[in-house]
Amino acid sequence: MRRVRSGVETRERRGRLRPLLAAARSASSDETPTLHAPRHLIRLHDLTDSELEEVLELSTRRKLRPGVNELEGRSVGMLFFRGSLRTRASLECAVNGLGAHAVNLTAMSDFWELEERDGSVMDGRSPEHIKDAAAVLSQYVDALAIRPSATGRSWDVDRRDAGISSWARHASVPVLNMESTLWHPMQALADLVTLREHLGTLPGKELAITWVRSPQPASASVVHSLLHAALRFGMKVRLAHPAGFELDEGVLAEAEKLAQKSGGSLEAVSSLEEGVRGAAIVYARSWQSIESYGNPTLAASQRSRATDWMLTESLLGETDEGKVMHAMPVRRNVEITDEVLDGPRSLLVEQAGNRLPSQKALLVHLLRHA
Ligand code: CP
Repeated sequence: MRRVRSGVETRERRGRLRPLLAAARSASSDETPTLHAPRHLIRLHDLTDSELEEVLELSTRRKLRPGVNELEGRSVGMLFFRGSLRTRASLECAVNGLGAHAVNLTAMSDFWELEERDGSVMDGRSPEHIKDAAAVLSQYVDALAIRPSATGRSWDVDRRDAGISSWARHASVPVLNMESTLWHPMQALADLVTLREHLGTLPGKELAITWVRSPQPASASVVHSLLHAALRFGMKVRLAHPAGFELDEGVLAEAEKLAQKSGGSLEAVSSLEEGVRGAAIVYARSWQSIESYGNPTLAASQRSRATDWMLTESLLGETDEGKVMHAMPVRRNVEITDEVLDGPRSLLVEQAGNRLPSQKALLVHLLRHA
């Protein structure tokens, strides 16, 4: 009969194996992971269609039957290089709710700046390299969840997502992306759960993804992940934004391919009214312009020409009794009016609530066999 190890024994054994696994991985190229390489979640595409379906179904079951200690004795490191309210609180609650332990660390208060460039001469501000931090932390925890920062100066540089890639390259445990410049897979999971709760099946349903104004726009990560997720499920997506706020070409090219494969569709329009017309769901987000990325003066001038890009009740009268989603934080009466946010159309709080069961499902899926 197979002996069931205690959580501590298992973790110690894993700790002894990790340097061997890391060595095996570094001996291979980044593109050809070894048999034992950990499963990372950098973007939702890292889950196959059947895995994604399994996680979504598990998310729904988690809502009905929470509190099972399936990850007892395990631990998850959470490292934040930028602020967070929902991701931090929901993931920590998910980890604890599964009987695991969260180690939550914030850069510049709990630890220091980390170098991400391989081969760099580290005579600057960063006293430690991600390579070393990842190797050390991999011995303590069973997964590392990372919210990296970006330069904010160059889109060509930031779109490479070098920070999260470096963690994935150097950790010997699964790395979970808690929102990088390009992707926010955990938000997309909760978004899919919310969309399915309100629309039932997704193929052919109309989703409007619209830019809204904000003095501090976010990265387009939420929109990239949502766009790909919705098209993967065959939705009809209308993307509305003012001129100058076009999404990354690589992300759009991949979106087109997903639409072709799933039978969904993608249409870009430059009018908010046209964007929301007939939609079952209107998803609002203020994202940075690539044209003015790293140039705050130009960015402010661009936004000043788009002050009417706000969701109001009268605008939403153009929808098909459309509901409103937004990943939050949301600026009231700038991005969306109080009337909409406090009215029956708003799914925002419920959507944020879905972060908890969907992340529990994700953790169980990724860590059960890790
Ligand atoms: N939606 C989201 O990721 O929220 P936080 O930035 O508060 O984590």
